[in-house]
Amino acid sequence: MVQVRKSFGAEPIVRGIDLDIAHGEFMVLVGASGCGKSTLLRLIAGLERLDSGQIWIGDERADQLPPAERRVAMVFQNYSLYPHMTVAQNMGFALKVAGESKAVIREAVGRAAEILRIGHLLDRLPRALSGGERQRVAIGRAIVRKPRVFLFDEPLSNLDAALRGEMRHELLRLHEQIGATILYVTHDQTEAMTLGTRIALLRKGSVEQQGTPLELFNHPRNQYVGAFLGSPPMNQLRVSWRAAERTWQIGAHTVSGRMLPALASLPLPESIAAIGVRPEAWELVDPNAAEDGIACTVGWIEHLGDSVILFCSLEGEAAPVAVRRPASGAVPARGESLRITASAANCHLFDQRGERL
Ligand SMILES: Nc1ncnc2c1ncn2[C@@H]1O[C@H](COP(=O)(O)OP(=O)(O)O)[C@@H](O)[C@H]1O
Ligand SMILES: [Mg+2]
Repeated sequence: MVQVRKSFGAEPIVRGIDLDIAHGEFMVLVGASGCGKSTLLRLIAGLERLDSGQIWIGDERADQLPPAERRVAMVFQNYSLYPHMTVAQNMGFALKVAGESKAVIREAVGRAAEILRIGHLLDRLPRALSGGERQRVAIGRAIVRKPRVFLFDEPLSNLDAALRGEMRHELLRLHEQIGATILYVTHDQTEAMTLGTRIALLRKGSVEQQGTPLELFNHPRNQYVGAFLGSPPMNQLRVSWRAAERTWQIGAHTVSGRMLPALASLPLPESIAAIGVRPEAWELVDPNAAEDGIACTVGWIEHLGDSVILFCSLEGEAAPVAVRRPASGAVPARGESLRITASAANCHLFDQRGERL
């Protein structure tokens, strides 16, 4: 359990974060750069002092313990391996400092190396390793210490895309195999969605929303959360509904109530200010059909192989609307006029302050 507050000077960095992480959970803390993720991990590890709050690990209060007694292990983005030590020495260092015997260290290092499949690298120096191998060693060094909690600070950010994908699977396997409690920090929404049993989305030192990846994805509490998860992000259309005239105001335009037929059937709160629709949730209206839909023009097209993203301009809206279509079907051409719509279930409604209605 983490309940903390922290400022540097007058600037509050962690504004009052309250997290409950279950034993054995893989909790991902995701948020934009500078939102306080590393500071939070450093508070838990004991590398920074709390201004107020408490940290409990299991049934022990940890925030008053010195770092070495908290039995947490941190893995950093830049690996922080000792360059003059071999892989085995790096991994066993904490146990050596703790005065363990050579046999115990060899056994612990061997077991961690086996889990991480780096047994053949034990005699190498870090400079003779690839980025992915170095990160495995850094994780191995944490495993050897048998911590109660693993703290990962953007451990995959220095790796290329293919290796990141591979290491994500390694981390999931590791979590399953050793049943560890993991608090994992990243700015990358894909890592958050794929790794977390739960996600806490952090913004300017506060938790915006926490829940399973799909809870956050399907029921974002506000526009910020809606836009943060998913790529391309959720489209946000500024709208207002004029019940008396039965018209929509979208951007600068007044349009017929039938334009968004899915929404016209909803009991809409007066306070609606925006509609969020994910790129994959749009449907194209058959050009011969009588129903309306939102008229837009295909501006440019991104081919992703399995799908295409149509960036469509909407008269009166500055930002283009992203529409994902399967690559296998007929792909509209640049400059083509379309009508798009979305089912009521796929429309997220937000009020003036961006909160979900
Ligand atoms: N030791 C420090 N002294 C002053 N400001 C700091 C210190 N550490 C971090 N900060 C500031 O706190 C904010 C959050 O930093 P950090 O926790 O590293 O963010 P994140 O890891 O989410 O990118 C940043 O604005 C950063 O400049
Ligand atoms: Mg950071």
